[in-house]
Amino acid sequence: MADNADNSFDLVILGGGSGGYACALRATQLGLRVAMVEKDKIGGTCLHRGCIPTKALLHAAEVADEARSGNTVGVKTTLEGIDMAAVNSYKDGVVGDLYKGLQGLVTSAGITVYEGEGHLVGTDAVQVGDQRLTGSFIVLATGSYARTLPGLDIGGRVMTSDQALTMDAVPRSVVIIGGSVIGVEFASVWRSFGADVTIVEALPHLVPLEDEVLSKQLERAFRRRGITFKLGAKFTELTQDDDSVTVVLDTGEKVQAEVCLVAVGRGPATDGLGYAEHGVSVDRGWVTTDERLHTSVPQVFAVGDVVPGLQLAHRGFGHGIFVAEEIAGRDPMPIVDTTIPRVTYCDPEVASVGLTEEQARQHYGDVDTFEYNLAGNGRSKILETSGVVKLVREKDGPIVGVHMIGSRMGEQVGEASLIVNWEAYPEDVAQFVHAHPTQTEGLGEAALALAGKPLHVHA
Ligand code: NAI
Repeated sequence: MADNADNSFDLVILGGGSGGYACALRATQLGLRVAMVEKDKIGGTCLHRGCIPTKALLHAAEVADEARSGNTVGVKTTLEGIDMAAVNSYKDGVVGDLYKGLQGLVTSAGITVYEGEGHLVGTDAVQVGDQRLTGSFIVLATGSYARTLPGLDIGGRVMTSDQALTMDAVPRSVVIIGGSVIGVEFASVWRSFGADVTIVEALPHLVPLEDEVLSKQLERAFRRRGITFKLGAKFTELTQDDDSVTVVLDTGEKVQAEVCLVAVGRGPATDGLGYAEHGVSVDRGWVTTDERLHTSVPQVFAVGDVVPGLQLAHRGFGHGIFVAEEIAGRDPMPIVDTTIPRVTYCDPEVASVGLTEEQARQHYGDVDTFEYNLAGNGRSKILETSGVVKLVREKDGPIVGVHMIGSRMGEQVGEASLIVNWEAYPEDVAQFVHAHPTQTEGLGEAALALAGKPLHVHA
């Protein structure tokens, strides 16, 4: 436990995840004295139970698929099997190294870390164990937890992503409830590892928050990969015994599998922490803020997953940096959810930023769109991936949405994000030469086409 003579700081941050630690690092750069309270490990969900370990599993899954398909490019390979103990030790090694690095960063920045569960005990005070910390400002950064549904108790063969990340064997079969980001990422991993996978999604599409073209392409790719999915079907009941789980859907259909993953969203981790008791506005557990992340208490801010909106680690980083600069009087630009890039790391990868076509039509009325098919992209052909890059522009205006799917397309989201956030016109993007052969040409080709001068596109 850290020790500070008078326990008073410029800033006390409750939670050491992506939002909390980014805020702490930026605030110390700006000369503020910072305390950060963490009950588990700094790095939070992203580093220990989310982004990093799941992407390590997805990389192992990609290697498994490459081993299976070496013969298609003339390389004699066979997949002997998946050694989950070794996969887990690779995954844990990645997390462990990053954790060590983060601890070093936080220590060398001079942030005082308090280990333990902190509670808001005043509008300027946090209690951790027997220590009372006071701050001129408080930042609530307590994150989120994996939610479940009534009638769906976690335990035994029924798990959330928390337990799914620590499995010591590949299940023979899995039923996944929820076909959004977590659902499709785990479906992808388990299918590559050899399991039979069935996804149950209440809405009409997989990744239902994405532009429909991406959902349809993903559904086609998953079908080809032998992943079963039931769309527009709701979970109603689950039973489990020693061998299996049986999930009953509202269609009356039953799905039986060895295990069940519940991936129906994440809720705000704010219960019992004293927020509402001290005047912080809370709505169904979420901390409501204005666009400058002020809560209803002037000196209390909130960042990351406790604030309603996209639950993404990089949004947390952005929020954290924003609040530190706001407190230091730097007048930073607010972080707007529609400007934040999104990547779903299943195979094929889904990446997007800005408005879907439907949202853009609602917002701007008339829009122009172009879908560039990766079948015409040399690098995609070499990688044996199919997919699409779709641009949405305001009529005669800037590009307001970029939607991409295909192997490795997540790596293109940086350019997509600059295009949308700098409000580039297709004509601006079209004049920049994209390296050949790369998948970035997909973005270049789509911009060329929207600018009226398509290259590798049939008229
Ligand atoms: P989500 O909120 O994105 O999706 C939950 C899905 O469950 C929805 O599509 C919903 O229609 C479905 N559902 C709800 N009740 C159902 C029922 N009774 N029967 C069938 N389906 C039902 O939640 P998810 O996927 O669990 O992810 C949680 C959060 O974590 C998200 O905000 C996500 O963006 C974030 N995340 C981001 C990742 C990334 O950026 N790569 C990776 C993993 C998670």
